[in-house]
Amino acid sequence: MIFSSRTSWHRHPNRLSELLERHRKSGAHIYDLTISNPTECGIVYPEKEILSVLSDPEAFPYKPDPRGLISAREAISLYYRKQNIGVDPSNIFLTASTSEAYSMIFKLLCNNGEDILVPRPSYPLFDYLAQVNDVVLRQYNLEYDHEWQIDCTSIANEISSKTKAIVLVHPHNPTGAFIKHDEYSNILEIARTHHLALIVDEVFIDYPFDNDHTRLSSTACQSDVLTFTLNGISKLAGLPQMKLGWIVVSGDSSVTREAAERLEILCDTFLSVNSPVQVGLPHLIKIGESVRRQIQERIKKNLVTLHEHMTAKTSCSLLNSEGGWYAILRVPQTKSDEEWALELLEKKGVSLYPGYFFDFVNDGHLVLSLLSDERTFLSAVSKLKAYIDSTA
Ligand SMILES: Cc1ncc(COP(=O)(O)O)c(C=O)c1O
Repeated sequence: MIFSSRTSWHRHPNRLSELLERHRKSGAHIYDLTISNPTECGIVYPEKEILSVLSDPEAFPYKPDPRGLISAREAISLYYRKQNIGVDPSNIFLTASTSEAYSMIFKLLCNNGEDILVPRPSYPLFDYLAQVNDVVLRQYNLEYDHEWQIDCTSIANEISSKTKAIVLVHPHNPTGAFIKHDEYSNILEIARTHHLALIVDEVFIDYPFDNDHTRLSSTACQSDVLTFTLNGISKLAGLPQMKLGWIVVSGDSSVTREAAERLEILCDTFLSVNSPVQVGLPHLIKIGESVRRQIQERIKKNLVTLHEHMTAKTSCSLLNSEGGWYAILRVPQTKSDEEWALELLEKKGVSLYPGYFFDFVNDGHLVLSLLSDERTFLSAVSKLKAYIDSTA
């Protein structure tokens, strides 16, 4: 076999993507509640301003720096300083995306077959990132009881002699749960005891639905435990096409120094972030504030619509959430999530994610994006509610 077993993926469309394709070809209207691309849902971008930032002559000479241009790292440091978090620019590493950041950290920490703990439910990219880096994933649980919580006992139970790190998603996709102070203390204790690193994905941290003092702020520079805090402008500034993410390395100074030295060589091997986006980053973060505000507004309005529809009389309910771009509906387990998703698409033209895409332990969950434009969202939610009520 010429190909690696690492890439022997199932490559056929699933039932839902086949149905979606058929629907699109037939010209039927689709109410898309899976949209996660902010550039395609009617958000108004100052396009000319954004594109002109990318044509700064400063970006023409090639000045490779494995950590990224200092001007870009200072802009990121300023982003943290505005939240009263001191991050030394020399502990920041630019990457082409958060996904690439994960990949770099997996390479930095894991030998073949060593493992990393990830939350369940969770978003599907981890499986691929783990496979391409020959890392084994072990899952710890998030539990829902009026709100989502990290099951710290399941973290402790899943640790093996090969475990290197715990991934935390803050706030989590798709549950929207932020890490709380008490959860963080427990997790730090576990990490110290077992000599594990933390990998904290904060791509949705600037999308809280409200304020709550029990929530942790960014983990960049919070503790002695070796921590890799990830973020990027794909969500922060609604600019996924710009391909820029970053890693902040923090923790006890000796281990942080060694991690940074090793990471520098890893990043130097690829030098994957283009110069125009690095030179433009200070402006893109600034311009992105208006984009972020629009996305936040959109999400708030769509959440109100959801709350108005999911009353006590309906047979589906909305799980409590704290932030991010997604919402989770609990639906009757009279059929599988996949059947609900197929029927809603077939009968009502509403496209959403079945819970199994996110590896929910049980059936009874549908995940929808809060990014769709308000009119589409309203029509889709009333259609799906009427359908579920009539068939449950
Ligand atoms: C939790 C989470 N982390 C990371 C990413 C990927 O971000 P990026 O576009 O920076 O690779 C996503 C994408 O949806 C995500 O949901």
